[in-house]
Amino acid sequence: AYVVTDGCIRCKYMDCVSVCPVDCFYAGENMLVIHPDECIDCGVCEPECPAEAIVPDTDPRAGEWLALNAEYAATWPNITEKGEPPADADDWKGKAGKLALLDP
Ligand code: SF4
Ligand code: F3S
Repeated sequence: AYVVTDGCIRCKYMDCVSVCPVDCFYAGENMLVIHPDECIDCGVCEPECPAEAIVPDTDPRAGEWLALNAEYAATWPNITEKGEPPADADDWKGKAGKLALLDP
């Protein structure tokens, strides 16, 4: 499965949602996650993310995020259409250590 990592937090551009063929993104207040059992590993979302937040679960950057995606995908609502990103999304792009800012 592909995994959303902390690069998404407070960026939440949602370009990934538009391209996923199986609608397996789930939305929290300030980030999205991928349901690992629903993702078909097509890979089309990875290059669409302006924050480069999406990686395959085989990537070292996935780390703890595979488990966190599974955990939050079980409780957050499914999202199938791109919405309006946060107004200050660009200010958070590429910032390190955003896990502490996750709003679950
Ligand atoms: Fe959806 Fe494909 Fe991305 Fe998985 S890899 S989340 S199926 S777009
Ligand atoms: Fe997040 Fe990137 Fe999608 S910032 S909402 S994973 S396009």
